[in-house]
Amino acid sequence: MDKPVIHYAVDEAVAAGAKLLVFITGRNKRAIEDYFDLNKELDAELRAKGKIDLADKVAQIVPDGVQCVFVRQSEQLGLGHAVLCAKRIVDNNPFMVSLENDFLIEDHSIQLVLGEMASKYDETKKSQLCTMAVSGSDVSKYGIEGYEDGTTQVTQVVEKPSEDVAPSNNAVIGRYVLDPMIFSHLENLQPGAGGEIQLTDAINCLAQDGCVEALRLLG
Ligand code: G1P
Repeated sequence: MDKPVIHYAVDEAVAAGAKLLVFITGRNKRAIEDYFDLNKELDAELRAKGKIDLADKVAQIVPDGVQCVFVRQSEQLGLGHAVLCAKRIVDNNPFMVSLENDFLIEDHSIQLVLGEMASKYDETKKSQLCTMAVSGSDVSKYGIEGYEDGTTQVTQVVEKPSEDVAPSNNAVIGRYVLDPMIFSHLENLQPGAGGEIQLTDAINCLAQDGCVEALRLLG
């Protein structure tokens, strides 16, 4: 690890084709905006010392052609609420969500996962979840999918169920490709697990309509 985890998230999203990055931040998180902005003082200092490679690296943290937008969520009302904060920017377009709760390492390039999910969405117009098997009581730490055997079709998603009622042991990890229909569900949600507006509950509405699939990670 030689950079902040959120920088890995940006690399992953950009590799998957994202051109507009929307950061949902909050009070006391302005360092994130600064990090992704040009740092002219550092740039000048590195170049003056002949550290051109380093200066170029810092200047390319956000590659050309990629734009960053920062939205402040003033109250932490839940992940669903955080995603809803991006509605005005995302508008009526499909979008990727990346939570750096989950840091992914695989044998082959993990950067393919979000890209693969985006291609799958383009093909099917169904929202895409990334899931992986977890064991025992770990199911209560995640959103858990119910699914049709032998298919990628997701039939339901339950936020942090107890082990005895979990529909499977397939946990949703923090990578999503979502249809903009999710926003109308988010707007109508009551607080769910933990008293929060849960993204999982809105995805569950889409799943009930047969509009959600999962990419199941083996790595
Ligand atoms: C969030 C989601 C949960 C998902 C998890 C992945 O939970 O609500 O459905 O499985 O991220 O890390 P959190 O850990 O933020 O409470």
